[in-house]
Amino acid sequence: MSRSAHPAGPRHADVLPEGHYSAPPADLNALDPKVWAHTVSRNADGALTVGGVDVGTLAEQHGTPAYILDEADFRERARAWRTAFGNDADVFYAGKAFLSRAVVRWLHEEGLNLDVCSGGELATALSAGMPADRIAFHGNNKSVDEIHRAIEAGVGRIVLDSFQEIVRVAHVAQSLGKRQRVQIRITVGVEAHTHEFIATAHEDQKFGIPLAGGQAAEAVRRALQLDGLELIGLHSHIGSQIFDMSGFEVAAHRVVGLLKDIRDEHGVELPEIDLGGGLGIAYTSDDDPREPHEIAKALTEIVTRECEGARLRTPRISVEPGRAIVGPTAFTLYEVGTIKPLDGLRTYVSVDGGMSDNIRTALYDAEYSVALVSRTSDAAPMLARVVGKHCESGDIVVKDAFLPSDLAPGDLIAVPATGAYCRSMASNYNHVLRPPVVAVREGESRVIVRRETEEDLLRLDVG
Ligand code: LLP
Repeated sequence: MSRSAHPAGPRHADVLPEGHYSAPPADLNALDPKVWAHTVSRNADGALTVGGVDVGTLAEQHGTPAYILDEADFRERARAWRTAFGNDADVFYAGKAFLSRAVVRWLHEEGLNLDVCSGGELATALSAGMPADRIAFHGNNKSVDEIHRAIEAGVGRIVLDSFQEIVRVAHVAQSLGKRQRVQIRITVGVEAHTHEFIATAHEDQKFGIPLAGGQAAEAVRRALQLDGLELIGLHSHIGSQIFDMSGFEVAAHRVVGLLKDIRDEHGVELPEIDLGGGLGIAYTSDDDPREPHEIAKALTEIVTRECEGARLRTPRISVEPGRAIVGPTAFTLYEVGTIKPLDGLRTYVSVDGGMSDNIRTALYDAEYSVALVSRTSDAAPMLARVVGKHCESGDIVVKDAFLPSDLAPGDLIAVPATGAYCRSMASNYNHVLRPPVVAVREGESRVIVRRETEEDLLRLDVG
């Protein structure tokens, strides 16, 4: 992930410090379409516009910081996934990336299904009218209450994550007089090429039931015996922000291997296989994500080939992209506050948010891009670090990036590709208020998740 230091210097340093940056871009005002939402451009005054609304207006109407979400882009990406996989497969949007009622409605309208992983996500999905049978319920430690609510609501599938859960779900289903459709999540032992904390298919971690040592086969044996369960398939999710398809290839090979063993042992061909989510997006110009149709083609071919080899009917495939749909559709709009040049190092640019609205940099060493968006500038590039307002030196939003050296307090800057895992992982650290999510479309903006207020904070604090 790391890039080499560049020999050309900003205004404050003859020799640049070590860092994750490449050359300053030829044009600091250019907006790389790879990292920005589809309807983003600059207007005649040089201000960034999205969905036909300029950032000055957005800041005036909604304040900063704010997540600005391009609705047309969201729908387009959702539709692209749906179309790419066609009618013989299902696309479950992973709600953990970002979930709100508006998003649920868009997904419903675009024909996608939804993956939820908590009672809160389930409640959001149901309250926005997502049909329960289009919801998959995930999680490594679902409570009995959550399981009860999910089965009662009639969710399309529960993804079983442990031996205890197999029994628990069967028990609750039976007590409700139902037979619940379930998949079993297996860990296939693939090392995804991504950050350790977002890799999920190696064996030494909390998710799923390992294929190794026959544990997954034993889980299948038990699930098949229980009246409350209808085992419809196997599930594998290998991690996140993955560009290399070879991990999916190995995973599919191993999942199909188990399908074959199940057929041989029980005479049952499970009809479904879910390959999870995890497809990477461009956070900086150095990232080259694949298009949904390429991914669909690759995954379908892999599974079909593996099944032909094993003389199995090809199961119905499902996938669970989160980041790849919502990630690129939003940016975070900040106002620049304090600017602190450190000679020989870099310039610290403080914004009115920080690790409370984007924890990914601190948590995963994630890389982001940033641009001055309220105007253009012809000033020389300066090496900047965009930091937040929290009482912590690790409160970094963009570690290394070039911004124009005439940047001034009051300027608006934006960090693209923050649609996934930023609002959903936001916190109140230092009692900083969580920003709103503002959807823009055809010249109009509307708040879909409002800004938190001090009243909200005090309401929870019951003294
Ligand atoms: N399916 C399952 C079972 C998952 O656990 C996940 C993500 C997804 C699908 C969606 O993955 P996506 O397509 O969005 O990569 N907070 C981290 C990512 C954690 C992902 C957790 N599971 C981050 O900010 O990178």
